Amino acid sequence: AGSATEARKPNVVILATGGTIAGAGADASNSATYQAAKVPVDKLIAAVPAMANVANVRGEQVFQIASESFTDAQLIQLGKRVSQLLKQDDVDGVVITHGTDTLEETALFLNLVVRSDKPIVVVGSMRPSTAISADGALNLLDAVTAASSKEAVGKGVLVTMNDYIQAGRDVTKRTNIVPSAFSSQWGPLGMVVEGKTYFFRAPYKRHNTSSEFDIDTIDSLPLVAIVYGSGNMFPGAYTAAVDAGAKAIVNAGTGNGSVPGYLVDTLKDVRQKGTLVIRSSRVGDGFVLRNAEQPDDKYDWVVAHDFNPQKAKILAAVALTKTSDTKELQRIFWEY
Ligand code: DGL
Repeated sequence: AGSATEARKPNVVILATGGTIAGAGADASNSATYQAAKVPVDKLIAAVPAMANVANVRGEQVFQIASESFTDAQLIQLGKRVSQLLKQDDVDGVVITHGTDTLEETALFLNLVVRSDKPIVVVGSMRPSTAISADGALNLLDAVTAASSKEAVGKGVLVTMNDYIQAGRDVTKRTNIVPSAFSSQWGPLGMVVEGKTYFFRAPYKRHNTSSEFDIDTIDSLPLVAIVYGSGNMFPGAYTAAVDAGAKAIVNAGTGNGSVPGYLVDTLKDVRQKGTLVIRSSRVGDGFVLRNAEQPDDKYDWVVAHDFNPQKAKILAAVALTKTSDTKELQRIFWEY
């Protein structure tokens, strides 16, 4: 029972959406050949009894999908459920189990729109639980540990993979077959080691309670397309996005977010017809500046700064729920 003053164990809710962490392979040697989104949330929890030492945990099965199949509608549904739960006094933190393919998009989205300082930890695994050296169980235990940690409060959405604590804003999946797949351009925030969180830095950019966006007021996201830059591009990739109703096109340009000379007129035309043009870079750890590679002021384009194309798409979609003014869009890309 303990004394009345003894701090109660944190209450953490695990929202399961699918992915490899809920995957199962035919054989223990299958580390890459398996089916994602099979194991239900209560079995995920039962598989890691050590969680009970850290927090009172209960699970909800929100979806059971591989994360490449996430739609904006599902992203919004998940965000609203997280927001609703964190408003409850008897919920101290939320863990979201998720496929790793689009984990970085969901982590950034929640960082932008959930107005709570309580820990939100997104977690996945690179191997199914049936594989030798499966990483899901420890990743999940670390996620519950981080979600229970007072030090995690106010640090934005976190991602616990491979013992590290990454910032949801920065983390990206850089490879598709090893437990160390996730890293951040600006480094991890810390580690979880033997059931304790160790933080060495805190996020600097606007997020959660300092955000101007609020999932409780968002019911849909405008379509934003990404066009991947390469040699020998063609205008149709961009006009097809406009025809599909894209309100913005993220150009995953080469190097500095470059646009081929023979496509500048196409993108100027796209902008003049009302679709936003956002210059990002395909390099992965991009750092795109205004008016460096292209005269963005003159063409009324926006630059994605350090957001990779898939994160720039999420930020642009969220920003467009409030404004389509390019100066406001650019402010948002600098501030978040
Ligand atoms: N289909 C991928 C996904 O659900 C599997 C990758 C994983 O979850 O690790 O994201």
